[in-house]
Amino acid sequence: METLLHIDTSPRIAGSVSRQLTASFVARWRGEHPGGRVIVRDLAATVLPHVSEALIGAYYTPADQRSAEQGATIALSDQLVDEVLAADVIVIGAPMHNFGVTSSLKAWVDHVARVGRTFKYTELGPVGLVNGKRAVVVIARGGIFSEGPYQAFDFQTPYIKGVLGFIGITDVELVLAEGLSLSEEGANQAIARCEDLITASAGK
Ligand SMILES: Cc1cc2nc3c(=O)[nH]c(=O)nc-3n(C[C@H](O)[C@H](O)[C@H](O)COP(=O)(O)O)c2cc1C
Repeated sequence: METLLHIDTSPRIAGSVSRQLTASFVARWRGEHPGGRVIVRDLAATVLPHVSEALIGAYYTPADQRSAEQGATIALSDQLVDEVLAADVIVIGAPMHNFGVTSSLKAWVDHVARVGRTFKYTELGPVGLVNGKRAVVVIARGGIFSEGPYQAFDFQTPYIKGVLGFIGITDVELVLAEGLSLSEEGANQAIARCEDLITASAGK
């Protein structure tokens, strides 16, 4: 069964542009895949804990040697990894916060980039284990970073592409809604352009 993992990371619920656009993607994807399954991971609804010493200990303890306490500590991370592995397509809503990703998306990465589960070390360096998937990342930003004087401050898109590539997801499409705080007209135009991109992307 075709499976879509829908991840929202905006702390805003009403008025969130990234949530509006990921919801559009999901609606269109459902239309294209009537028998498909959608897994919802809302990082505002379930706030992920920061990585702790106990969690790192559990990460680096083989599954069959973990204590019951370590098993409980790692359970949420395992569930997040399982969601990624179950998906054929992953749509991520990614607002820019202070030139980078939201802290919730960073936390998700810290729970999902797992040695032995989503990447492994080899003599040639780390190799991603999450292969054959497509990711669509909806970027929402108040300012403009794709060109102009603030281009060098875009720590968001290189990071997202970098970490997804690190775990093996190299088919990554970015849907960019930027300049949202500059003018209402510009924001509406950017959102309309994204809706068109999403319609095309959800049909792939
Ligand atoms: C804490 C915070 C930090 C932000 N930092 C930036 C920023 O560095 N650059 C930018 O262009 N917009 C920034 N914004 C504006 C958001 O990117 C913009 O409102 C976007 O629409 C957020 O996505 P959302 O509508 O899905 O919540 C920030 C907003 C918040 C709340």
